[in-house]
Amino acid sequence: MHTSAASVATSPIIFSFAEDSFHAAADELRAAFGKTVTIERLGHDTGCFAAAGVDIAQVAAACLQRPVVFIQHLMQEVMSVPSRQIAQTMTRVTEMTLDLAHAAGVAAPIALQVWSSAGDTPFHYRPDELRRHLAQTLGEHGFTITRGGQSHILSVCLTSQQTLLGINRTEHALTDWPGGRIGLAKSTAQISRAEFKLEELFKVFALTLPQHGLALDLGASPGGWTHILRQQGLSVWAVDPANLDPRLTTDPQVQHAQTTAAVFLAETRDVFDIIVNDMRMIPDMSCKLLVQGARRLKPNGLAIITLKLFRHEALEDVQHSLMILREAYDILHARQLSHNRHEVTVVARRRPS
Ligand SMILES: C[S@@+](CC[C@H](N)C(=O)[O-])C[C@H]1O[C@@H](n2cnc3c(N)ncnc32)[C@H](O)[C@@H]1O
Repeated sequence: MHTSAASVATSPIIFSFAEDSFHAAADELRAAFGKTVTIERLGHDTGCFAAAGVDIAQVAAACLQRPVVFIQHLMQEVMSVPSRQIAQTMTRVTEMTLDLAHAAGVAAPIALQVWSSAGDTPFHYRPDELRRHLAQTLGEHGFTITRGGQSHILSVCLTSQQTLLGINRTEHALTDWPGGRIGLAKSTAQISRAEFKLEELFKVFALTLPQHGLALDLGASPGGWTHILRQQGLSVWAVDPANLDPRLTTDPQVQHAQTTAAVFLAETRDVFDIIVNDMRMIPDMSCKLLVQGARRLKPNGLAIITLKLFRHEALEDVQHSLMILREAYDILHARQLSHNRHEVTVVARRRPS
């Protein structure tokens, strides 16, 4: 158990990633912090990173600025306990959580987040049961506990071998959800599950979308993203050889070009306030089309693209794609969101030419 100030500064950082992206995330960490860093996989979507003198603030900054795209969430580990020692009862992990909360000395309310990255779980209780118990106990000891929305997060991550406890600033966690897993509810108005990708993006990054004007949606069918753009108040050109959902075809503010993106971009004379691109297409071709489309996007206009990662060399493909996009755009954000499967979402801003 590490609780001194010195060990907090150099203690391991727990990072979350999509199940297939451990190697890409580890390669990104080595590229950012040198080949001598220690990286270990702890669970299907959780790893541990340690490097002398590197703290969570530096890792978070690298994630945002380089950008590191395959890391979804960070947590500063402060204490750990073998999971088998706490598998039967919550007593010990509750004592440790109380110690941690007292030692942290955060006067403000604290977010408490508990999640499991244990496949074959040794625990006799569920993460939500543990969270409820910890929240109640912390409350009885005078702490104000919420699920999110605070300056600090107290995290408990259950893995098969070790249970990890930590506390860190929310801005360093990259997202304000346990392990980066955001739960979004499916509404009856939802047209496709692809909507979750945009909804998550808007929650993770503070994006200001135009409130009116004209949007271009490349690869729009069946129309989930078009639906979201309409909710934002934008009129939409939806481009896809496939059909749109009938709920969109009767909307006078949606025009459907039933053709390919290349044909549409060669013919259109419109200028767009935003371009989104969710086309199922190899990423360099998709990015080249977006670069070609930049001349039809207002200067400083946003482009949102999902890079579909068909190959094993996902990191290489992402880096090559970002290089292509930089011909016309500044990259604002790039991350594999929790709703991205074998893909990465990029937000770019058209450079004024
Ligand atoms: C993942 S789906 C898009 C889902 C959509 N964003 C939504 O929210 O419902 C990918 C789409 O890309 C389209 N697509 C593939 N190649 C295309 C191209 N060259 N031009 C336009 N659309 C294309 C496919 O027809 C498919 O409908």
